[in-house]
Amino acid sequence: MILTADPHFSDMALEELRQDCPTAQVRQTLEPGLWLIDLPDGFFALAEQWRRQPPIFVRHICPVMLTLAWDTAVSPPHIAAELGDLFDPALPFSVQTRTVGDTAVKPFDINKPLSEAIQQATGTPLDVRQPVQILSVVMHGRTAHIGLSLAAHNLSDWAGGMRRFAREKEQISRAEFKLLEAIEVFEIALPAYGRALDLGAAPGGWTRVLHKREQYVTAVDPANLHPSLYRIRTIRHKRMTAEEYLAEGPDTYDLIVNDMRQDARDSARLMVDFAPYLYRHGTALMTFKLPENGRANVIDHAFNILSQSYAIAGARQLFHNRSEITVYLNVKRDA
Ligand SMILES: C[S@@+](CC[C@H](N)C(=O)[O-])C[C@H]1O[C@@H](n2cnc3c(N)ncnc32)[C@H](O)[C@@H]1O
Repeated sequence: MILTADPHFSDMALEELRQDCPTAQVRQTLEPGLWLIDLPDGFFALAEQWRRQPPIFVRHICPVMLTLAWDTAVSPPHIAAELGDLFDPALPFSVQTRTVGDTAVKPFDINKPLSEAIQQATGTPLDVRQPVQILSVVMHGRTAHIGLSLAAHNLSDWAGGMRRFAREKEQISRAEFKLLEAIEVFEIALPAYGRALDLGAAPGGWTRVLHKREQYVTAVDPANLHPSLYRIRTIRHKRMTAEEYLAEGPDTYDLIVNDMRQDARDSARLMVDFAPYLYRHGTALMTFKLPENGRANVIDHAFNILSQSYAIAGARQLFHNRSEITVYLNVKRDA
């Protein structure tokens, strides 16, 4: 299979692979954060295990069933003939291509002829927006590594886990993408007209995203918010630290989000202090800012702290995270 992670977290991703699949071997590093992996026990067992319990740092996986030198005139019908029987014609598919290093062809030059050849050979409908089956192609030089899987088995529906969002004119910060991606990945359903607390809110990207989803937002940060947010009556700014707001006596919320620039363990302690101000049905989302060294220990320690009040519902190193991971929390039933 091909395995992808943020190059900055290569060691963590390969350790997750080693833990969950001790027989796996790295055959080749195609580029930093992208590996060709030998799986003696096959792709499906690991993919199914990770579908049920996703790793934090491995961002995307896809099987390799066929490796060939790409030739636009010859390869599409050949691949369709070789792999056609594996397609379920009832489930929409798409082709996702990534190119690595010096590759003359562009993803589009592969996606288009290959999708057409597969449609023709198998009658499977194409749906690039919501595919259930994905034919993944990783082009390394002239070599194409190709494999078919269910989208649910790739850890992300996006080629290489690269979830890109369109930039909006009103966008306040790049951090907005982080929250959009987290809402999607963790399938967070925001309550209608819910009350949200945004800790470490400035300049206000997350606050803007929550406001756009009809949440009443309390934004806590000693720093100023973007001027456009002060005109919105359903946003209030508490110009203070989260600790000061806690001392003041917070309201109760449906959702707490926390993107504070702070050690992950201190941030986790604060989340525990805020847990009594979350409704029983409430959820929380936070980023763990991670140091260069000892990241695994910091994560374990922060999880341990959080477990006093929360169940960890998900944790992923998202495409829009830099030196951090995003953690999704539910209030613990017995807390
Ligand atoms: C990465 S920025 C947040 C970006 C924000 N999520 C957005 O979308 O615009 C981190 C923020 O955490 C704030 N911060 C750091 N420590 C804090 C604390 N103890 N209480 C409240 N805010 C804090 C900083 O002032 C800074 O504005």
